Amino acid sequence: MPYNINTLCIHCHDNSDKEHPFGAITVPIYQAATFAHPGIGESTGYDYSRESNPTRAELEKVMKGLENAYDSIACNSGMAAITLMLDLFKNGDNIICSEDLYGGSVRIFNTVGREKGISFDYVDSSDADLVEKSIKSNTKALFIETPSNPTMLVTDLHKMKEIASKHNLLLIIDNTFLSPYFCRPLELGADIVLHSATKFLGGHNDTLAGFISVKDKNISEKMRFTYKTLGLSLSAFDSYLILRGIKTLGVRLERQEKNAMKIAEFLKNHPKVSKIMYIGLKEHKGHDIHLKQASGFGSMISFVTDNEDTARKALEKIKLISYAESLGGVESLMTYPMIQTHGDVPVEVRERLGINDRFLRLSVGLEDADDLIKDLEQALA
Ligand SMILES: Cc1ncc(COP(=O)(O)O)c(C=O)c1O
Repeated sequence: MPYNINTLCIHCHDNSDKEHPFGAITVPIYQAATFAHPGIGESTGYDYSRESNPTRAELEKVMKGLENAYDSIACNSGMAAITLMLDLFKNGDNIICSEDLYGGSVRIFNTVGREKGISFDYVDSSDADLVEKSIKSNTKALFIETPSNPTMLVTDLHKMKEIASKHNLLLIIDNTFLSPYFCRPLELGADIVLHSATKFLGGHNDTLAGFISVKDKNISEKMRFTYKTLGLSLSAFDSYLILRGIKTLGVRLERQEKNAMKIAEFLKNHPKVSKIMYIGLKEHKGHDIHLKQASGFGSMISFVTDNEDTARKALEKIKLISYAESLGGVESLMTYPMIQTHGDVPVEVRERLGINDRFLRLSVGLEDADDLIKDLEQALA
């Protein structure tokens, strides 16, 4: 990386963001569906915005710098990025996935993926031996979320890389919870990294977006073809919003993490909280492994209350924190994964993972930590 991460959040790695018309400091929103050709068979570099757009191109360049990728493709949601990833696989292929996974990923795998003839095995990926034992002759990839959503299991990425290399598998990481600010899986040997940019990258709960970043030219070319063919592209305006969000990624994440640490300590000692899952806490099972592969812990906390009534009342009583899906933005949000984000995960899997009627997930935002604690205090009273 030629520049440090905080600089890369603000400038393209090759300084090409300095070349805007009239010296504009930020990239204009090129709100154009199509671009005129200078002559027959000639192009300005942009022909049609489904395929490429100058505002989106700058966003993709920034992301490519942050991920240290060969290519980063900006999609109109995290799910669009996952759709693009799925297109790499065909009838008969098998993918081994973290058992604890964002519910939307489970839904697309178990419906669209299975209809395509792809099989998915869900295993506890924090157990590397189990992952390796699960590999079959038709296994083509490992799909990992670390920390996992919502139970915060940590998977050892170095071990996953070893397994993937030994068995010739693609290593695919959903890095939504950490963003490239805290973890860059391509530098650790992953082949593909996905993000819901709706979360920390955008950071303001105001737009949907997704990324897929790759380090291989052939995979990039195949994905770019599918991307323009399926129309998964992020609009110019949304690209601008995500670019704007990324500029403050570092300061937001540092502060959100500080807030999360304070709140985790508060929840840990609360009499109505029976279990807390925050990877920043030293006692978290995956804390030490996480530190080998990431530079920070993020601001996602899950916790289990003493009974269902406490959990339901807390959701009804929070005032500053909103009871809403999603995560990673400046506004703190709390969800009930059992009926929201993970409603489509098979009941037996949910129960095994402990995602029950007492399980809450909190995305800590940028409000004052003491105000957030006061809100939780009155909601749990
Ligand atoms: C870990 C993870 N991956 C992917 C997605 C899907 O992203 P989007 O909602 O932007 O489509 C989400 C959404 O919550 C998520 O939490």
